Amino acid sequence: MLFPITYRVNARGHLEIGGCDLADLAAAHGTPLFVYDEATIRQRAAEFVSAMGEAGRVLYSAKAFASPGFLRVVAEEGLGADVVSAGELELALRAGLKGDQIFFLGNNKSAQEIALAYQAGATLVIDGAYEFELLQRVIPEGERARALVRISPGIKPDTHDFISTGQLDSKFGFSIENGQARAAVETALRHPRLELVGLHSHIGSQIFDLRAHQAAMDVMLDLLVELKRDLGYEPANLGAGGGLGIAYTKEDDPPTPRQFVEVIRSALAAGSDRRGLKRPQLVIEPGRAVAGPAGVTVYTVGSIKDIPGVRRFVAVDGGMGDNIRPKLYGARYEAVKVAEPEAAGGELVTIAGKYCESTDILISEIRLPPLQPGDLLCVPATGAYCLAMASNYNGMPRPEVVMVAAGQARVIRRRETLDDLLAAEVL
Ligand SMILES: Cc1ncc(COP(=O)(O)O)c(C=O)c1O
Repeated sequence: MLFPITYRVNARGHLEIGGCDLADLAAAHGTPLFVYDEATIRQRAAEFVSAMGEAGRVLYSAKAFASPGFLRVVAEEGLGADVVSAGELELALRAGLKGDQIFFLGNNKSAQEIALAYQAGATLVIDGAYEFELLQRVIPEGERARALVRISPGIKPDTHDFISTGQLDSKFGFSIENGQARAAVETALRHPRLELVGLHSHIGSQIFDLRAHQAAMDVMLDLLVELKRDLGYEPANLGAGGGLGIAYTKEDDPPTPRQFVEVIRSALAAGSDRRGLKRPQLVIEPGRAVAGPAGVTVYTVGSIKDIPGVRRFVAVDGGMGDNIRPKLYGARYEAVKVAEPEAAGGELVTIAGKYCESTDILISEIRLPPLQPGDLLCVPATGAYCLAMASNYNGMPRPEVVMVAAGQARVIRRRETLDDLLAAEVL
């Protein structure tokens, strides 16, 4: 699934999402424009929740995209949120989430962030020995913060090295391999300001091979056996993180949310039973798999540069400031012309951004129908980690975001203005 579920080619031959013609949206809102399809968000979120059933809970990982207008839709489908900063916490609270629906993660939380998370009633996910000291200082005497301890299970999934986090050489989590995990659980159990409600793990992102999650679950359950035997501790909750991959190109064939949950659920159930452990409640926190397929970006073609025998560069009015992923991870994308979304073949072109970096290339080689300045291009699967990582590099205001449903578009984030660029400057 490359496009949102409401993808349609309308009577004008134009690409339509959520009953809205993307050319009309571009005319009304300008480009670059991020378009989120409400039906796709709801369908993806609901699939995670229904597959989970009574086995546990689903949090949406707000780092993928955290606009309150988006979070509200996700929350309406019954998901909580995982946040990693005071900023994401505030966005989630503004979206109407309650503290007890929020987990606060992060490998270097500040004292202020811990205090805010505690006051909001969020559950902390401890990720580093320093946090035990901070808790001592921040949590009032006689009170305890609800917390999980983040474990690094030592699994290296089949994904880009930069987005896998469960292996030993990672800044995230207490490693099982070198004994730090067990020591952290012992510290947490003795800690006067902390109520240990479970263990957490996350092995990486954009993972297609679910065997990595099965293997991680087995490693975590082996740790639970050791903790039960030696410390008499059995966690009420076990976090398995997020990580489900999505299709960015036509060749990508990721598992579904249901398959993802069912594999982890059954690994937990069968693995606990086999080891004589009480089954903890499962906590998962997908981000990309909820937001990614729901979002597309619309750009306008501008300058076209031909280097005969070498390459044709087609420049669009956005690029690395609104989608850093090609530059950061070598991520690959597809694109279609809004006016001819299903045209076959075409000429080989490179879609370049407008930022002053040679590597600001959105798609290095793609076949598209002949393009002219003013044509609209749509890049699918840009709902996650694009706007969330957007910058004002080169003094570019960040794009507008609309949510579409049943032929209506509502702005959930307005286009930034030049005044916004100056808002924090001291003149
Ligand atoms: C701890 C944690 N949980 C959840 C996620 C969300 O991952 P994804 O967007 O791949 O589902 C991440 C992102 O890498 C993460 O670091």
